Amino acid sequence: ELQRIPHPPHRVPFLGDVIGASRRTPLQDTLRYGAQLGPVFRRKAFGKEFVFVWGAEPAADMADESRFAKHVGLGVANLRPVAGDGLFTAYNHEPNWQLAHDVLAPGFSREAMEAYHPMMLAVAGRLTDHWDRERTAGRAVDVPGDMTKLTLETIARTGFGHDFGSFERSRPHPFVSAMVGTLTYAQRLNTVPSPLAPYLLRGASRRNAADISYLNRTVDELVRARRASSADGGGDLLDRMLETAHSETGERLSAENVRRQVITFLVAGHETTSGALSFALHYLSLHPEVAARARAEVDGVWGDAEVPGYDQVAKLRYVRRVLDEALRLWPTAPAYAREAREDTVLAGGHPMRRGAWALVLTAMLHRDPEVWGADAERFDPDRFDPKSVRSRAPHTFKPFGTGARACIGRQFALHEATLVLGLLLRRYELRPDPEYRLRVTERLTLMPDGLRLRLERRTASA
Ligand code: HEM
Repeated sequence: ELQRIPHPPHRVPFLGDVIGASRRTPLQDTLRYGAQLGPVFRRKAFGKEFVFVWGAEPAADMADESRFAKHVGLGVANLRPVAGDGLFTAYNHEPNWQLAHDVLAPGFSREAMEAYHPMMLAVAGRLTDHWDRERTAGRAVDVPGDMTKLTLETIARTGFGHDFGSFERSRPHPFVSAMVGTLTYAQRLNTVPSPLAPYLLRGASRRNAADISYLNRTVDELVRARRASSADGGGDLLDRMLETAHSETGERLSAENVRRQVITFLVAGHETTSGALSFALHYLSLHPEVAARARAEVDGVWGDAEVPGYDQVAKLRYVRRVLDEALRLWPTAPAYAREAREDTVLAGGHPMRRGAWALVLTAMLHRDPEVWGADAERFDPDRFDPKSVRSRAPHTFKPFGTGARACIGRQFALHEATLVLGLLLRRYELRPDPEYRLRVTERLTLMPDGLRLRLERRTASA
């Protein structure tokens, strides 16, 4: 079955298709192969063979929940030592997945989001204070660095009543360094042959163990503080994890599982949103006509309001399209894995046995000219106006994954990011560095490397 799937022409024994491949950019290399090999292809790297799919038909097939389900493999499986059976890394059959999903889902309802809104605004205020100071000092701002501070503080504050003090630090919080360490390590594990990993990565694996124990200690401290405090978190995620019993079974999350969930949410809840905001700001700085239109929308919807209300964020339709378009070109979680529930045939031509799996290459699906047109590489938020969306094949825009295991934090991320883009557009003109060429770093997630912008304060409003 595998034999019929195309692969790159030059195979090196043992190491596989490594010619022209880099350990630091496995995804971007894979995209190049995908363009040559078509919508179902395989790639052997460092002793492992992976099947990748993109294109409208295979992607829609993979979204069929009766035949396919999430596969915990590769980068996701490599995070099991950190995140265990937390929501993101749980196997489908693990009972803690359903339990935690049911207990935590109300934490992402509309009512919950309305309660987070003022906290999101408060954190965004710290960002604009910082950016005002940088601007006054004549310095360019570090976009990915500052977006990471913002999104980490937002999930920590709204979910756990915790303050990492990121904006008061000149260097990233050690929690962020430890997290980046474990993500990078999880990705590197995919780029060495498994039997050699303990030798090749000995130093890195020691650092990884230290990173994990730092993450555990931070989280244990946070939980201890909440338990010791007389006040609750007003129904935040941590309250739900600690206090809420399942509505039907009466079960609760164990202490060990709470630890896994807190780490999961702190990491999953900020890294990808930070990248999405950073890419959006990059494109806004390069497309002044898009920025002007988005800004006009913000001025129109928010009027003279000092700060926007919850509904005034939902009404920013064009700003949302800017974000969608940034997530189309650079889906910050660039792939997800699916496995066959039973023996089946993928896209009419590729038999798959029960348990066989493949990676849906979102980043490639999102640039397929057959779906998005010959100008698929061009940044154009109008692709997401309702008419264009209706005329497109279904299951071709998947930045948040698919099915039962799709992102639980989608509305949270979209509300936060739309709110922040609105605030920044209203306050500043964004000036790109003319020398900057987009470089994308990979640590399972994607981030524009070294992106800096100059700001000018708008005079018109705010
Ligand atoms: C799952 C993307 C923001 C929490 C996922 C998946 C994707 C994704 C693709 C599915 C992964 C898979 O199939 O293996 C994103 C993107 C985000 C974002 C692009 C921002 C732009 C968030 C936020 C939170 C969050 C803000 C929490 C507050 C989770 C969790 C899961 C998940 C817990 C696992 C869900 C489950 O399996 O039940 N995300 N995410 N994500 N995401 Fe997000």
